[in-house]
Amino acid sequence: MKNFKEDFPLLEKHPSLSYLDSSATTQKPRIVIDTLKDFYENRNANVHRGVYALSEKATEMLESARKKTASMLNAGEDEIIFVKSATEGFNQLSNALGENVMEDHNVVVTEIEHHSNFVPWQQLAEKKKAGFRVAKYKDIMSKGVDAIAELVDENTRVVSFTYMSNVTGKILDVKKLAELVRKKNKDVFVVVDACQAAAHKKIDVKELGADFVCLSAHKVYGPTGTGIVYGRKELLKKIRPFFYGGNMIHKVSVEKTEWADLPGKFEAGTIDAAGIISSATALEYFHRHHEEITRKEEKLKKELVAKLRGVERVTVIGHEDNEYGPIVSFLVEGIHPHDLATIADRDNVCIRAGHHCAQPLMESLGVSATSRASIACYTTEEDITKLVESIKKSRQIITR
Ligand code: ALA
Repeated sequence: MKNFKEDFPLLEKHPSLSYLDSSATTQKPRIVIDTLKDFYENRNANVHRGVYALSEKATEMLESARKKTASMLNAGEDEIIFVKSATEGFNQLSNALGENVMEDHNVVVTEIEHHSNFVPWQQLAEKKKAGFRVAKYKDIMSKGVDAIAELVDENTRVVSFTYMSNVTGKILDVKKLAELVRKKNKDVFVVVDACQAAAHKKIDVKELGADFVCLSAHKVYGPTGTGIVYGRKELLKKIRPFFYGGNMIHKVSVEKTEWADLPGKFEAGTIDAAGIISSATALEYFHRHHEEITRKEEKLKKELVAKLRGVERVTVIGHEDNEYGPIVSFLVEGIHPHDLATIADRDNVCIRAGHHCAQPLMESLGVSATSRASIACYTTEEDITKLVESIKKSRQIITR
């Protein structure tokens, strides 16, 4: 079995560190760091602008990264838009798609969304005086994606939902939901948050059947600062650009501006070529090892859930069946998640504590915060054992 830790310089340098916060951001493999460094040391020039060899080479590398990214996501090259984060993607989509939302329309999301895929749609609905329909966590747990589809009617214009919850790891059946939505209303834009899913599952946008899919490279072993928006070509052609500026135009005159062809129309200004090129390297790393990663993560997730359940007064949220990714939120009776995270940190165990940018879900769960451990390719059994020992120790410290 591959020793993934060897590929990650930070983990190699800190062998006693148990990093269980990969849902917040993954550690970066050497190959990604080297790609980033190589660009700035040997290839740096602005893309899509210079006519000299250095700039042309940089442009070629950027477009090759787009080609690889598109092929890994099963999208067309002109369907991949690079932005700075998934958050930026959702905000821009809510602006662009929002032009079709009027007062008697409605927008559908869920209580399990990250704020980045909740607040933009809520604000759009508020601005347009449209309906804002939110599928309840409890209904999703009992009825699955039908609980979301049943909120869709002939006035729905957007349905936006997560593929995998960043709090509980719950996986939604995207394909089924996209089909259910379309059966009820063909005019709905189906938007998917694949931020967490992309680190654990191969994303095939055609198979998912969504109109738009957003993800952030830093959660899939890539650098921070690069987000990917997949959009169906015929829709991207119709909607207005996200940003205005350099590169995204075909012609500008005092009277009017004509947009560049796809995908340039959506990429205004100097884009983060180094970040995009190394993000493609990160996605390739994940794809290369995908089968082994999935097997390993699934095994570790089961072990983590079982071990947590074995500790007195610890409650794991969800994970009753296998429809969960390797993200586990839990509560330790009598110990605030922040206290637990601080105690675990003293044992060199990194977990996240708080509302995880998902306050509507916290409200539905009746808590203000949870502790969360998340698994990536480099996680080991030892990391999990150390976390469980820290939890046991925290009880002694707090209740002493
Ligand atoms: N969205 C990231 C998380 O869930 C930051 O931790």
